[in-house]
Amino acid sequence: MSAITAERCAERPSVKADEVAAYVVAAAIWAPSVHNTQPWWFATRGAELTLHADSRRQLGVADPAGREMLISCGAALFTAKLALRSLGYIPETRILPDPDAPLVVARLRWRHRALPSAYELALYEDVTRRRSHRGGFGPLPLPPGLLECLRRDGAREGAQLRVATDDGSRAVVSAVVEMAESVQRKDSAYVRELAAWAPPPGSARPDGVSPAAYPARPVRTIPAFASRDFAHGRGWGLPGSGTVAGAYCPGLVCLLTTQSDTPADWVHAGQALQRILLAGTGSGVAAALSSQPVEVDWLREVLRAQLGDRSYPQLVLRLGIVPQIEMSVRRAPESVLFLGSREPATA
Ligand SMILES: Cc1cc2nc3c(=O)[nH]c(=O)nc-3n(C[C@H](O)[C@H](O)[C@H](O)COP(=O)(O)O)c2cc1C
Repeated sequence: MSAITAERCAERPSVKADEVAAYVVAAAIWAPSVHNTQPWWFATRGAELTLHADSRRQLGVADPAGREMLISCGAALFTAKLALRSLGYIPETRILPDPDAPLVVARLRWRHRALPSAYELALYEDVTRRRSHRGGFGPLPLPPGLLECLRRDGAREGAQLRVATDDGSRAVVSAVVEMAESVQRKDSAYVRELAAWAPPPGSARPDGVSPAAYPARPVRTIPAFASRDFAHGRGWGLPGSGTVAGAYCPGLVCLLTTQSDTPADWVHAGQALQRILLAGTGSGVAAALSSQPVEVDWLREVLRAQLGDRSYPQLVLRLGIVPQIEMSVRRAPESVLFLGSREPATA
């Protein structure tokens, strides 16, 4: 990713703070984000990095509260902290440090050092390998013990990974995703917004969901989980992808939830999401994400009622074994990292 490494940092403890910031941002940009909007920018001063949400990249129709924007930023924050750990720094984080500046998502400082663990280094290695999956999964169950680890990973970051364990609850989640997708397809403002983040084949855009990231034909799992219509009926997408031969399993159907529903909870949910996704990637497990049901208020309430404890669904995830072959693009780190607190001129 970047020229500096943990070894070089250890040899040269006075490695320049700017170099560290560049290394950290080069990793953080590989976090997942809704429609690959990459709704973030970073400012650095000394050994401190500030993560800002970029409201110009917020989905005004699908995400008017900015919940998914902050979940995406939370995923970038977790990745930034992991990059600092890979260099042997201990990140000190303040989430939403300024009540008068709600777009300042976090401040990160690095003053003290401790060797990274093998686990932290393994998670870091998977930052650029992880991809969102859109389709079915093979029939194999998750590796033994992994689900417990993923649950712990979520809880460590302040969110819960809840599994739909029986046919009935899987059917409810499937029906809610299908219904949300059908509601949104009938909403012309939503359709226009999605199209704006779905560039055509061959586009050089460094953001949005490219046709190399989804199958040309939606994969029907049993029960079905409706995909976003990124191609909008134009036949874009990867031929024959989205599943492994003959695999129509939906995977392990899960909800990522939080106990309350504040902006801080959304940032925590994003951190939990990225920790879970990276831990899964290391074990050959990919995730398909669905946020349609949390974008339609009344359907989010249906999911919430299902949970039984009134916690808040933040995202539907399906986990399973499948190669992560999808392509994804990012803006260059230099275009999202600024010296001082200067705001980027362009979105
Ligand atoms: C909050 C959030 C919501 C998302 N919702 C969906 C979704 O509904 N459908 C989907 O296919 N992908 C969804 N994704 C995955 C993004 O599209 C994906 O992260 C982005 O395109 C970048 O690709 P990558 O994850 O492969 O790097 C979501 C991601 C986040 C963080």
